[in-house]
Amino acid sequence: MARTAVLAGLGGYLPPRRVTNEELSERFDTSDEWITTRTGIRSRRWADTGISTGDLAVEAGHRALKSAGLAPEPGVVDMVVLATTTPDQPCPATAPDVAARLHLGPVAAFDISAVCTGFVYALAVASAQISAGHADRVLVIGAETYSTILNPADRTTSVIFGDGAGAVVLTAGEDDQPGALLGVHLGSDGAHKDLICIPGGGSRQRATHGEPDPAEQYFTMQGKKVFAAAVNHMRQSTVSVLDAVGWTTDQIDLLVGHQANARILKSLARQLDLPEDRAFINIDQVGNTSAASIPLALADACAAGLLAPGDRVLLTAFGGGLTWGSAALTWPGPTPA
Ligand code: UT7
Repeated sequence: MARTAVLAGLGGYLPPRRVTNEELSERFDTSDEWITTRTGIRSRRWADTGISTGDLAVEAGHRALKSAGLAPEPGVVDMVVLATTTPDQPCPATAPDVAARLHLGPVAAFDISAVCTGFVYALAVASAQISAGHADRVLVIGAETYSTILNPADRTTSVIFGDGAGAVVLTAGEDDQPGALLGVHLGSDGAHKDLICIPGGGSRQRATHGEPDPAEQYFTMQGKKVFAAAVNHMRQSTVSVLDAVGWTTDQIDLLVGHQANARILKSLARQLDLPEDRAFINIDQVGNTSAASIPLALADACAAGLLAPGDRVLLTAFGGGLTWGSAALTWPGPTPA
C-alpha cells in the first residue's frame, strides 16, 4: 500500500455582500440577460473594503480544520499552502500570516501563484510532500479577492469574478482509503501569458518613477481566446489523469471543474461524453472565484448531498499562465462538512 494524501476536512467561506446582476447592470453597460446567457452567473460575493484575501483564507481554514476534527493550535498541521492571485501584499506571502492567525505554530507556509489553477497546483505540492514523508498533515487553501483587481472600466471581467475562499485538510493515509488523492496532472504554456494578466506592478514594468498607470494594475483577460484554450486543456488534462489512475470517463461520479463559465463546463462534459448533470455547477451563485473556485465547489457539492463515500471525483482547472491541472480522488467517509 502506498503512502498517499487523503482528504480529511473541507470548508468554504464567502464574504456576506451579494452582488446581483441587476446591481451591476446599474453600474455597467450590461444586463442580467447577457451575464446569465454568456456565463451562467446570477450573483457573486464581493468583500467589503478593508477585507483581504488573508481574512477570507483564515475563515475557510478554520472551517476545514473543524471539519477534520482539529482544533486550531500548534502541531495540528505541518504546512500551510495558500493559492491566490490576490495576495494581501506583493511581499511577504500571505500564507505565513494566515498560519499565524490560525495559531498553527511555526509551520512551513507559502503561497502558490497559478491563477485559477492555483488550488490544483497547491494540492499537487501538498500531496507530494505527504507522499514523500515530509509532512503528515497539510492545510491547503484557495482564496481570492478579485474585486480588488477588477478594472471598473471593463464590463466583461467586472461581471465575471467574485471573492471567496475554500480549504481542505490533507492527511497521510493509504491509496485504497476513501478520500485518497490518487493522481494529479499539471501543465503550462507561458507563450500565451498575455491572455490573462495584470501587466504592471511586477519587475518587468516597475512603477519607480511617477504615478503608476492604474489601467496597468488591473486584471485583464482576452475571453474568447481563453474560452477555447480552457476547454481544450481541461479535456486533455482530465484524460491524462484518468489514464494515470486507470479510470474511464463513465466511472466519474462528479466532475468538479473550475467555475469559469457554465458554458465551458457543459462543453467539457460533452467532450468527455459525460452527462451534463455530472459536471457540478455553482458559478450561478459565486461567479468565477479563481483559486478558490474548486474548494468552494467541493464544499457546495458536499452540502448539496451530491458526494457519497467512495465516489470517484475528478477536479480540473485552467487559468492564467497559461496553466491547467486535474486531480482524481475518491470521496472520503464520513463526508466532511
Ligand atoms: O478563469 C480563468 C479562465 N477564464 C475563462 O475560461 C473565461 C473564458 N471566456 C469566457 O467565459 C467568455 O469569453 C466571456 C464570458 C469572457 C465573454 O463571452 P463571449 O461570448 O466570448 O463574449 P465576447 O467577448 O465575444 O463579446 C461578445 C459581445 C461583444 O459585443 P459585440 O462586439 O458583439 O458588439 C462584447 O462587447 O458581448 C459584449 N460584451 C458585453 N455585453 C454586455 C462583453 N461583455 C459584456 C457585458 N455585458 N458584461
